[in-house]
Amino acid sequence: MPYKEYFKAATEALIVVDRKGHIVEVNRAAEQLFGYLEREFVGQPIELLVPEQFREFHSNHVENYFVAPRTRAMGRGLNLAGRRKDGSEFPVEISLTYASGTQHGDLVVAAIIDISQRLALEQEMRRAETLTSLGTLAAGIAHDLANPLQVIRSRAELLFELPDETPATEMREDHASIRRQAERAGTIIDEFLQLSRQRKMVLAPVDINELVDRALLLIGDQIRKGRINLETRLDRTLPEITGDATALERVLINLLVNARDAMPQGGTVTVESGLLTEQGQWLLLSVADSGPGIPAEALGKVFNLLYTTKASGSGLGLWLSRRIIQEHSGKIEVESEPGKGATFRIRLPVAVGDTA
Ligand SMILES: Nc1ncnc2c1ncn2[C@@H]1O[C@H](COP(=O)(O)OP(=O)(O)O)[C@@H](O)[C@H]1O
Ligand SMILES: [Mg+2]
Repeated sequence: MPYKEYFKAATEALIVVDRKGHIVEVNRAAEQLFGYLEREFVGQPIELLVPEQFREFHSNHVENYFVAPRTRAMGRGLNLAGRRKDGSEFPVEISLTYASGTQHGDLVVAAIIDISQRLALEQEMRRAETLTSLGTLAAGIAHDLANPLQVIRSRAELLFELPDETPATEMREDHASIRRQAERAGTIIDEFLQLSRQRKMVLAPVDINELVDRALLLIGDQIRKGRINLETRLDRTLPEITGDATALERVLINLLVNARDAMPQGGTVTVESGLLTEQGQWLLLSVADSGPGIPAEALGKVFNLLYTTKASGSGLGLWLSRRIIQEHSGKIEVESEPGKGATFRIRLPVAVGDTA
């Protein structure tokens, strides 16, 4: 099939753009996707199809692109959006193909896919996972509650059996025990409520280094007290990201507390921040310790709900941390060589779009 035919009939929306960022040609799928007719597209700046809040960013992007043009995915994993003629917006994935020296000069063909369905499906899967996880969690809670309730019941029965004239002093120990166990049950329920409360994410610009500073201010002393040497290697030139600072701080604290728990004899914890420019821009935040590390067979389990190897662990920390990072469209991974410590690495998308 001649190129022209292929172009017109492709099921992907294709838009050809010149060096100045003007639309040269579009296919039918693009007309359908954006709701414009071909003649309404042609000659218009490509920003026509970009939601207002990303326009400036996008035009810089186009300029930068032609400085070092190459065929690639645009801002993979980041949240790119398109804007229809009626003003509605939708999430997209875009790949760019570069064609130099055509009759219209240097051109870029942008192939655009509407990914709203895929995103909805992913969200649905995450929700389903949460529900199953909450089921597991509920089973764990029920199990934890059974103990204090058992104690309360047996002590209450003992008290009930006592003769009427028993002096209060003899019952004190039973009363105290009932109170202790009731408090314990209350704590378990509180923790569960905190966890299951669907707190809405509060998105705002976040400076990751500030977040590290704050977390260290909160628990730095506690960590140093355990003869742990705290080192930071922070790239102070990092751009801000969009995220929920409270939730992200919680992730960092979880990782720091785990590092501390892993090194009861002391050691070193290194917190590092940096920029990663593979396929778009990612912010990297890592917490590495010099503890015993994680055995290979446990590596795949540490993020599981209720997985813990500690006598008084909850097995909630890493599970929750991973959820929070996923909600930021990021990734959290662990790497460990037994005997050489563990490193938890977080990647977060820098912004909508990219400037690579
Ligand atoms: N830095 C670390 N070094 C070694 N093991 C770790 C580290 N961080 C986490 N783990 C392992 O992962 C498990 C799960 O961690 P987490 O979800 O935070 O729950 P908890 O801390 O309550 O056990 C821990 O019990 C431990 O076995
Ligand atoms: Mg933990």
